[in-house]
Amino acid sequence: MPAPFFRKGGGPRVCEAVSMETKVPATAVAPDPTHPKPLLGRIAVVTGASRGIGSSIARELAASGAEVIVNYVRGAEAAAGVVAQIEAAGGKARAEAGDVADHDSIQDMFGRIKERYGRLDVLVNNAGILRDRTYKKMSMQDWHEVITTNLTSVMHCCHFAVPMLLDNGWGRIINISSFVGQMGNFGQANYSAAKAGILGFTKTLAIELARYQITVNAVCPGFVETEMWKSVPANIQEKILDRIPMHRVAKPEEIARGVRFFAVEGDYMTGQSLNINGGIYMGW
Ligand SMILES: NC(=O)c1ccc[n+]([C@@H]2O[C@H](COP(=O)([O-])OP(=O)(O)OC[C@H]3O[C@@H](n4cnc5c(N)ncnc54)[C@H](OP(=O)(O)O)[C@@H]3O)[C@@H](O)[C@H]2O)c1
Repeated sequence: MPAPFFRKGGGPRVCEAVSMETKVPATAVAPDPTHPKPLLGRIAVVTGASRGIGSSIARELAASGAEVIVNYVRGAEAAAGVVAQIEAAGGKARAEAGDVADHDSIQDMFGRIKERYGRLDVLVNNAGILRDRTYKKMSMQDWHEVITTNLTSVMHCCHFAVPMLLDNGWGRIINISSFVGQMGNFGQANYSAAKAGILGFTKTLAIELARYQITVNAVCPGFVETEMWKSVPANIQEKILDRIPMHRVAKPEEIARGVRFFAVEGDYMTGQSLNINGGIYMGW
């Protein structure tokens, strides 16, 4: 009998103790990347999918056949629009409200997902915010809001998603980090700490979940043309473009294709970061 995944007792449990023998069904198979809809029959949750990169990821996974849960916190109308786009293209999706910064709210959301679908295959932790200030001006509120929404949120979602993936016997967790988590960035001490934290979390979860056919990877975008980018003042945008070897920002679809890669093709990849950044960061 193999050791339980998470030991019972000795403090709060992350999830129910599960053994490989009892939890990996014979039917747990990876998608066939040569199939036109390799994620058909799979359920995917994308946090912060009402706009920007998240909405592109939702459309990309739906185009690959997944039924996608489009999570949002404020943008109900925008999320409904993303669902409508997916359905118009012949895919399946459903909008679900849930504040990733709030453990109880996420518990409720995954409870509804479990009740409705009874399974989960792919979790994309994408939701994020900015509260950029130089370190000297950064308040504790700026710090806590970003750490909670961008980093603790990943734990909140994994807390409820991982037991469902374990039940499934197969799963993909893809965390959206940033090149800023790899190299730091002026005015983003809170954001870079959160994004670096995601990378450490990704690697550790990857080690712990590999034996259950669950891979955990990160995508590290460079600057991407979304509301987040548009909030950057024009003079700063110019300076940023000068630092990017490709001299342009990414389209959200270019990030979404990286997420699809991990979900569909990256069977033997776990604990990795995929840098989609136009060359702004080329570290190992
Ligand atoms: N844009 C870039 O240049 C860039 C670069 C590297 C990494 N990233 C990362 O990529 C991810 C997406 O960024 P983006 O540019 O697409 O951002 P965005 O356009 O500002 O969209 C953010 C999304 O996150 C959602 N969200 C925010 N707080 C939330 C919460 N507490 N609970 C649930 N959802 C929440 C928003 O939902 P509502 O509409 O409901 O508020 C929205 O759907 C973020 O993690 C970001 O850090 C972005």
